[in-house]
Amino acid sequence: MNLAVFASGGGSNFQAIGQAVTEGKLDARLSVVVSNLETAGVHERAALLGVPSHTLNPAIYSNQTDYHAHLLTVLAEYEVDFIALAGYLKKIPQNLIEAFQNRILNIHPSLLPAFGGKGMYGHHVHEAVLAHGVRWTGATVHLVDAQYDTGPIVLQEPVPVRQDDSLESLAARVLYKEHRLYPEALQLFATGKVKIIGRKVEIAHPRPRSYHCATQS
Ligand code: GRF
Repeated sequence: MNLAVFASGGGSNFQAIGQAVTEGKLDARLSVVVSNLETAGVHERAALLGVPSHTLNPAIYSNQTDYHAHLLTVLAEYEVDFIALAGYLKKIPQNLIEAFQNRILNIHPSLLPAFGGKGMYGHHVHEAVLAHGVRWTGATVHLVDAQYDTGPIVLQEPVPVRQDDSLESLAARVLYKEHRLYPEALQLFATGKVKIIGRKVEIAHPRPRSYHCATQS
């Protein structure tokens, strides 16, 4: 698997994916990082891991066709065959979804379909979770389709919401879970264990139960 990671922020999920590759837990090559922001922290993390990173800001292109074509060119240059969105805040253009059908994953910091959709990103998700008073939230890895957060679900892990949780404490607990869940989901694709039937994602050898129970203390 020749992997591209798309990120707009700090890139802690990118780092977790990189660590899984280094530790031999993910059979992939981290080929390139793509960001829409020059200032995104992910560039620094990419440099530390020796992964090339590119900024493609849709706003600077005179037309969207050029931007879409440039995205495909960069991915072709690095022979990318799979994409992981990790805190990438721009909508994925249709040409990319078609070119990488069922080969683009995203991670979302809630149990989808709850607390997903347009505007539900970063702290907005955890704010909504706390305001709603749900007892459980979590992390979801899903395939990317043309809408926000609606594609078929690959893996989900629950995270309890505590009565004394702040935005920060809840976000940290969910992020901890994300860092384990995303490499695991990618490894399922890297090892050909995933079959997609409509909205359903079938996994050849489901995980042992002990994995599900692992949480941060
Ligand atoms: C994560 O919470 C992810 O679920 C969401 O954006 C955040 C990215 O964090 N899509 P990081 O940049 O990987 O630290």
